[in-house]
Amino acid sequence: MANSPLHATALAHPNIAFIKYWGNRDDQLRLPMTGSLSMALDGLDTVTRVGFDPDLAADRFILNGMEQSGAALNRVASFLDYVRRLAVLNRFAQVESNNNYPSGAGIASSAAAFAALALAASKAAGLELSDAELSRLARLGSGSACRSVPGGFAEWLPGSGDADSYAVQIAPPEHWDLVDLIVVVDRGEKAVGSSAGHKLASTSPLQTLRVAGVPERLEQCRIAILERDFERLAQVVELDSEWMHAVMRTSTPPLYYWTPATEVVLWNVRAWRSQGNAVCATVDAGPNVHVIALAQEADWTEAQLRALPGVLEVLKAKPGGGAKLIED
Ligand code: PMV
Repeated sequence: MANSPLHATALAHPNIAFIKYWGNRDDQLRLPMTGSLSMALDGLDTVTRVGFDPDLAADRFILNGMEQSGAALNRVASFLDYVRRLAVLNRFAQVESNNNYPSGAGIASSAAAFAALALAASKAAGLELSDAELSRLARLGSGSACRSVPGGFAEWLPGSGDADSYAVQIAPPEHWDLVDLIVVVDRGEKAVGSSAGHKLASTSPLQTLRVAGVPERLEQCRIAILERDFERLAQVVELDSEWMHAVMRTSTPPLYYWTPATEVVLWNVRAWRSQGNAVCATVDAGPNVHVIALAQEADWTEAQLRALPGVLEVLKAKPGGGAKLIED
């Protein structure tokens, strides 16, 4: 057995994809069809404590104070199996995880969840993983989680297999004063989660075309970030989001995540940009809209968004850092 400190606590942020991950070439290993690129979201925190305990007869998972069972527990337990295998450890664990952002806000929490869990569980099991190894491990829990490990502006390199499919930071959070205004138009649970959604991507006749265009869009997005070129970023971020939703809508069965309120927000963001405001929008697997703006335009944009019909809430996040260990 590895020399285990038995318990550890880690913090991680969710991330918003500027260039999306949609569709796997290997569902089990979560090896993606393409690369993707994201920004970590500061101030939205998932804090996870893992303790391996010889007295436990099974894994336990407590999320926001509530004991989990069924699919949620099984997903965590399967993930812990990877860690136990790596560490040659034969103990069950208690996992306690808390999000400081509302669960019903439609912010994908699985990225932050598995980034924090990967770090806390590997540390608790006595493993000393490199950044790349930790990102790979997080990927096995949720693909987008691999980008929350390095944080900042992070690119997931799709790789040729398990060993080289992980994310790297292309710029630190302080590189660019962007803000993500998360516009909540629906607090409900989505009907089809992303793990099931990825499996449908290949049924869309548009997926091949979408995939073929990703290297060029990744390149444009990288340049936009490195040169802090907002207009270039806006164009590629919106185009890539449209491609993903086009694939979703033309899958069998089709996936429609947007509501009329989603369209209202998108329509207005386009209008504001055409009037000269540095704003653009992107939507993940749900109806809520991430409006990306230059920090100096955030207050004006937030006020406009709050005045739109159907907007329930607006959360604000700056670029955030990577997963880190914190005091137990
Ligand atoms: O990591 P998953 O399996 O939850 O997939 C995330 C999918 C999107 O959020 C829609 C896109 C992305 O790249 O984050």
